[in-house]
Amino acid sequence: MDISNVRALRCSLQNHSVSKDHRKRKTVRKYFARQASYTRGVIPARRKKPKKSPAPVHPFDAQHGTETGSLIPGDDLATGHHSDRHITAYHGTSPSLFEKLLTRWRDDFAKHPLEKTAFIDIGAGKGRAMLLAGEHPFRRIAGVELHPGLAARARENIDLWRATHEDAPAIALFEQDVLRMRIPAGPCLFFLFNPFGAYMMDMFLTRLRREFASRPGECDLLYVNDEQWPLMEEAHPQFKQLWRGRIHLSRADAAADRATIKHDADGIYVTTGYEDCSIYRLMKR
Ligand SMILES: C[S@@+](CC[C@H](N)C(=O)[O-])C[C@H]1O[C@@H](n2cnc3c(N)ncnc32)[C@H](O)[C@@H]1O
Repeated sequence: MDISNVRALRCSLQNHSVSKDHRKRKTVRKYFARQASYTRGVIPARRKKPKKSPAPVHPFDAQHGTETGSLIPGDDLATGHHSDRHITAYHGTSPSLFEKLLTRWRDDFAKHPLEKTAFIDIGAGKGRAMLLAGEHPFRRIAGVELHPGLAARARENIDLWRATHEDAPAIALFEQDVLRMRIPAGPCLFFLFNPFGAYMMDMFLTRLRREFASRPGECDLLYVNDEQWPLMEEAHPQFKQLWRGRIHLSRADAAADRATIKHDADGIYVTTGYEDCSIYRLMKR
């Protein structure tokens, strides 16, 4: 019996499974399994699902023993919270891009030294951007993450990373909706890797404007994959765009992103090897 016939027969057998004669069905299946194994010289008659290849390890994780990889589409991050629907996806920031963007802000626009500035990751995911910030002398580092599984992973990653970075600034992860997060005092640098769509971005910017209207300290934004920049220009002109441009990933980071997309989201996402980024400052009157 050739394999295609085997399949056809199995199909008709499965279609038949409404039959009440369960024992008969079992017998037929056994017979059929034997025939198939004779043909192929193997035992299992039922085909197992092919196993997924192991997830690629990002160079950042290979270096630090953390796990910040994977690309998880927003639909797969729903846990029933009313803000779920606005999540874009989980994907960690590329270290090479992070360094270039931070350097541009620090060298060209920062009003205060890093030691006086709080770094806040809006949608911290598994914590990669917070850890990258931890390699710089920020006054403190905080992140907010809505998804409990990602937040738990971020905490584990912070602990793993801390073992080899004892002198790094304090890093705190808050598991909550960004709109409920307490904003640290003093100058703040917010980091956004396209965490949510227009509605949530509008709410977030409105909150920043209210909060900073009555308190001292700069409110600067680093915005990676800045999809909502037209919203910022049109609805929140109080945020002045200091810079906008395209930042290219290093070869190693681009290759890592390609491998992740192939493994996790083939046919859903593509990688271009760069991100459109912008830097904003909230202007106070
Ligand atoms: C593209 S990932 C960025 C991960 C991290 N910032 C990094 O760069 O490595 C965006 C993250 O924002 C989170 N997020 C989206 N909406 C949120 C909200 N309303 N409150 C808190 N986190 C949110 C998502 O769950 C996701 O983990």
